[in-house]
Amino acid sequence: MSITYLADNNAWLIETTSTAYVFGVSENNSLFHYYWGSRLPHASDYPGLGPLKNQHIYDKGGIAALEYAGWGGLNFTEPALKVTFADNVRDLVLVYQDYKIVNGKDFTGLEVTVKDTYFPLQVKLSYRVFADTDIIERWATVINQGDTPVRIEQAMAGTLFLPSPGEGNYRLTHLAGRWGAEFLLNQMPITDGKKTLESRRGHTSNQATPWFALDYVQPSGSGADEDQGQVWFGALGWSGNWVISVEQTTYPVVKSVQISAGINPFDFGWHLKPLQSFKTPVLSFGYTNQGFGEVSRLLHRYQNRHILPAKFLDTPRPVLYNSWEPIRFDVREESQIKLAERAARMGVELFVVDDGWFGARDNDRAGLGDWTVSPSKLPEGLGPLINYVHSLGMQFGLWVEPEMINPDSDLYREHPDWVYHFPNRARTESRNQLVLNLSRLDVQEYLFNVLDSLLENNDIAYIKWDYNRSVSEPGWPEAAPEEQREVWVRSTLGFYTLLDRLREAHPGVSWESCSSGGGRVDLGVLRRTDQVWTSDNTDPYDRLFIQEGYTLGYTPRAMYSWVVDSPHWLGKRETSLAYRFHSSMMGGLGIGGHILNWPEEEIATAREMVGQYKQIRHLVQDGLLYRLLSPRHGSYTAVSYVREDRQEAVLFVLTLGRRLGLAVPRIRLKGLEPATLYRVGGLGTSQITLSGAALMEHGLSFEHLAYDFASTMVQIKASAMS
Ligand code: DGJ
Repeated sequence: MSITYLADNNAWLIETTSTAYVFGVSENNSLFHYYWGSRLPHASDYPGLGPLKNQHIYDKGGIAALEYAGWGGLNFTEPALKVTFADNVRDLVLVYQDYKIVNGKDFTGLEVTVKDTYFPLQVKLSYRVFADTDIIERWATVINQGDTPVRIEQAMAGTLFLPSPGEGNYRLTHLAGRWGAEFLLNQMPITDGKKTLESRRGHTSNQATPWFALDYVQPSGSGADEDQGQVWFGALGWSGNWVISVEQTTYPVVKSVQISAGINPFDFGWHLKPLQSFKTPVLSFGYTNQGFGEVSRLLHRYQNRHILPAKFLDTPRPVLYNSWEPIRFDVREESQIKLAERAARMGVELFVVDDGWFGARDNDRAGLGDWTVSPSKLPEGLGPLINYVHSLGMQFGLWVEPEMINPDSDLYREHPDWVYHFPNRARTESRNQLVLNLSRLDVQEYLFNVLDSLLENNDIAYIKWDYNRSVSEPGWPEAAPEEQREVWVRSTLGFYTLLDRLREAHPGVSWESCSSGGGRVDLGVLRRTDQVWTSDNTDPYDRLFIQEGYTLGYTPRAMYSWVVDSPHWLGKRETSLAYRFHSSMMGGLGIGGHILNWPEEEIATAREMVGQYKQIRHLVQDGLLYRLLSPRHGSYTAVSYVREDRQEAVLFVLTLGRRLGLAVPRIRLKGLEPATLYRVGGLGTSQITLSGAALMEHGLSFEHLAYDFASTMVQIKASAMS
């Protein structure tokens, strides 16, 4: 990996192990994008640096392909930055000023500064590359060096340009859905015009996640698949209102595709005072010519090494128990103790108490905001329960939803002004709750103190941080008129600051991001939480689709899933305990059923399966993921995880609704060493030994799984391993 300034070209060449990204200073002193794709043998191979021109550059006016475009002049596509100056000038012309290459502990960085041609407004464009991943990070910092304020109306982390597809086309893949069906894979051809992916809900949202991939579709119509094809992809680290727009124009004759990602300009405004700066979220992006499988593996590795908090990366994520589904708000010491005893017998490592332990929280109509233990449910506080959980050999975890408040709470009666609201307007409730305005420093301080003392006074190893509604009426009457629209960003920063302070004060605690299921999953929250809840839909079959989409963009290390009761409470589907386990074992494993009602033989099965999971979880959490058969394509789904040194793998095969008479597929493995001999166990027969080549070329057949909702887990180990 390297970042080089090429003086002859007045350009920067950013190279990772397999990819390159190039931009430079044009004749009129603007920054032009030149190239993003495979790493090429010579600097002069790159468009803009040798004989090849960049097709995006149409004329000397700098139309299109501006590395970071201010809105102004003849620029009609999505600008990276739009501002209004104090004298009402709304034209921003950014020209090159200087650059700096920075060497960090495990990264190399580049900072290129541009400034307006007239006003003392600077923008610092930052880029970062790491030795062990092909992912590049970029963001922008807007600095007001003048003595009058500047109003920011749109601020992107950056704009990315794809090579012109010529006779071919691009296809967009994105992850979208709703409560109970998050992260579903959507694909659509890119045509002239603009497609916007976004959240206007104040949190990342259950509807869409800030991730995209664009693959090249050849003139014959074939695009990338799991193993081959060019894919350009990226993810934005922002847990508030975000936007990713993909725009194709044909000006003047070549198709040009650009992607902008950053803070959603909808209802946004930032009053940038003199000498202040504004930093955009980080956009992490990459390229591969090895299809969508490689996209995921690159992103997983990057997240496991550079995004997730370092503290717990060397330890496996624990098997947890959570009683939310069976018990709901009825969290009583007596029943929790019984559940804990059973959970411990199954091999659970972390016992979690969910919603209902505090205030007057007997249902979702009251108590949110009052973070003191309910005396009727836990008469002597959390202490005795925590001690008991510890005596059973488990850690203790607790649920909170700090940003929310029920109007029926002591906190709201005391501070009705702490929620978002507009004067003389209704405060719309959702799940009977309102949202605290974390833009307010007093609210942040209050929450820090409450949570800090909760963690100070109780031996808590994990916090599940929930967020169960979207923002409405985003008013902050006390703020200055020109700062009213800053709430969207300020509250997201407030959430980050609060979490960062708590992490620092309590470094032994691990954190989960949850938001009515998967409503707050993005690279911003993943920088400060160790795991996420992907969906409230815990049906093991539905989950396969959710997990398929989730793992396209995000690491299985952080993806938790629970084994719950059958028939499932949502869709009434009946599945075996083994099927439920296999579906949940493909990420972080939890158990969330009414285990007091499980018969002894199920407890024994659960214990055995938890034991099996502990043997393979290092592969699932840190290995290379291969989606072998998609649940979208037939009656079987198969996913494998291979250790980076290829010495060990695990394969999950699950059937869906089988149709009688259809052939049982032969599942060909991927990512193994062809010449290595592997011992293969768990096929319903005794262990066999086969070469990697046989497993990958010929594959394995699963005749014994020829019925609905059958499943198996196969362990594959190089025979040289003990
Ligand atoms: C929504 C979460 O997704 C659930 O797991 C549970 O914690 C409830 N909130 C509690 O209110």
